[in-house]
Amino acid sequence: MKRVKYTIANWKMNGLNGAVKVVNSIDRHVKKTRHKKSKVVICPPFTLLTNFINAKTGINFGGQDCHHFNEGAFTGCISAQMLKSAGCKYVIIGHSERREYQKETSKELNLKIDIANKYNLKIIYCIGEKLSEIKIRKKILNSQLSSLPKKINIKNLIIAYEPVWAIGTGKTPTIGEINSIHLDIRNLLSKKIGKSKSQNISILYGGSVNPSNASDILNLDQVDGALVGGASLKSKDFSKIIDSYS
Ligand code: 13P
Repeated sequence: MKRVKYTIANWKMNGLNGAVKVVNSIDRHVKKTRHKKSKVVICPPFTLLTNFINAKTGINFGGQDCHHFNEGAFTGCISAQMLKSAGCKYVIIGHSERREYQKETSKELNLKIDIANKYNLKIIYCIGEKLSEIKIRKKILNSQLSSLPKKINIKNLIIAYEPVWAIGTGKTPTIGEINSIHLDIRNLLSKKIGKSKSQNISILYGGSVNPSNASDILNLDQVDGALVGGASLKSKDFSKIIDSYS
């Protein structure tokens, strides 16, 4: 089975300046190069989503979070149903910045994944250890994976391994480490959901992916794409990353 590859931009709280140009330029690049090696997805801030989706480019869009309820008195939040009705196909859940700053818990993440799955959004579920947790990485990853609901449709699940210490720092694990950690994650998934299902889940790497290191990372046999922060804000850099699959 050939797993689907993804090149996903997480714009975080950025994109006010020239965002339309960036999306158009990435779209033009994907079309010009007839890129088929990965699915290209952009997750901009919520306010930009509908404009981008209505522009009907060839790019797929996703939200950066969703609430675990459909509607109600939750000021400042957005639901999976709202993302779906806006035309999103993807949602990032459990990003380390949200775990840290919004204090998202495993229980809450379990409910978020569950509701996003119900609305048939593809869930980019982020896991990864902090610097102080490197020695107990496997234990941390295993516990983060325990947020996955038992009944999740595997077709809706993408895992993004993002070591927290590699995000925005210019540091990454070595190429060999990235491959072996991804294999560890697949083995952990295999224990949870069974070997054959685990083989079909795309596991992306995220954390300081840039045009210089992308080809080494993206062509590892256990890596099924990238979740890119900083380098996804510049169309030239993101396009070079898209071109890095051999
Ligand atoms: P950087 O690519 O800026 O390190 O960010 C990675 C990330 O957090 C993507 O979700």
